Amino acid sequence: MVVWSPLRFNSGQEIANRFVMAPLTTNASHEDGTATESELEFVRRRAASGFGATISSATYVEQDGRSWQGIGATHDGHLSSLRRLAEAMRAAGGLAILQIYDGGRIARPDLIGEQSLRAASAVASLRPGSKTPREMTAGEVGNLIASFGQAASLARKAGFDGVEIHGANHYAVHQFFSPRANQRVDHWGGSLSKRMNFPLAVAQAVRDALGPELIAGFRITPFEAEANGYTLDDAKLLCNELARLNLDYISVSLDDYRVNRPTGEARVYDSAAKKTFTLAESPITEFARVIAGRTAVMASGGIKTCVDAEGAIKVGADLVAIGRAVVVDPEWLSKVRSKNEAAILAGLPKDQLEIAEALSIPPRMVEYLLSRPGWIPRL
Ligand SMILES: Cc1cc2nc3c(=O)[nH]c(=O)nc-3n(C[C@H](O)[C@H](O)[C@H](O)COP(=O)(O)O)c2cc1C
Repeated sequence: MVVWSPLRFNSGQEIANRFVMAPLTTNASHEDGTATESELEFVRRRAASGFGATISSATYVEQDGRSWQGIGATHDGHLSSLRRLAEAMRAAGGLAILQIYDGGRIARPDLIGEQSLRAASAVASLRPGSKTPREMTAGEVGNLIASFGQAASLARKAGFDGVEIHGANHYAVHQFFSPRANQRVDHWGGSLSKRMNFPLAVAQAVRDALGPELIAGFRITPFEAEANGYTLDDAKLLCNELARLNLDYISVSLDDYRVNRPTGEARVYDSAAKKTFTLAESPITEFARVIAGRTAVMASGGIKTCVDAEGAIKVGADLVAIGRAVVVDPEWLSKVRSKNEAAILAGLPKDQLEIAEALSIPPRMVEYLLSRPGWIPRL
């Protein structure tokens, strides 16, 4: 079966099977951006079940871009924490990939201070309670691109096998590409091709910092669910340009790959309120066609069984990323591999302490998992 077969990336690195642990923010790091023992254990236990690769939680590249109390990659002081993380992610010998991000307008004012909120343009997010950021100067935009490059250098020094740029889910890279969030009229905005400049510059900076032999991936939301957002055709054009930069994979972020539901900016997880789009084909198929084998394609969203994973491969993915299923059941992949899917845990236990202890989930992560009704299944 394809899902258990290896794949060689452009960089020459080989992934032993097609299952990837999706990036999962724990919101449980130390205040200085170093990893806590509980989040290392969260990752170690899940990686030990045999993922071909594990992607880290979103790692900030600038202090003022923090949307979570997560790990950072901003200076040498983060190196030993990053090394420990890479080691935990290799618990079963899989590849360790550091996901790097900036929050832009959805950075958290309680973490960074309201005055520090900066983004492509002075336009507030649709998330309830959002504050209006100030528009970044061209100099700050250049610095942010350099910060992505610097984070990639730190990842290389810390021994990661690669880096994933978080270009999805309404964070800063996505915001620069969005006509809703980016209303600039300089080199970084104003037309579709100018809105591509920031994501492409970040991808180039990361590739330059990594060199040709480490994995460089880019995660993208395939289209915006909101009115006047970017379209699937826009995103396909961006992917076409990204594929020219010799990336190793493009990861397509969906809530559910079968029902064409990108994560909306307001983050409503109540299933009744979720909007589904009718497309002629899966966005995975459309991206695979544009990319035409130049990079691997990773699918995510709603993969809970081996049949789901094979379905994603059938519509055009080379790799599948698993999120909530592995939050709920740390041994999800070993159960899939041993054809013991009946034993997979279907939801988080009722008791909060039991969730943390039995499933090795940091207590602060448990709190935010439970704070969004309908997001994570409960028993
Ligand atoms: C607790 C949690 C944390 C997440 N953190 C991140 C993150 O740091 N970066 C990211 O790109 N996606 C993040 N996601 C999205 C997942 O990677 C994944 O795309 C999404 O959950 C859909 O896949 P699933 O249906 O397998 O969960 C997170 C999801 C969950 C449930």
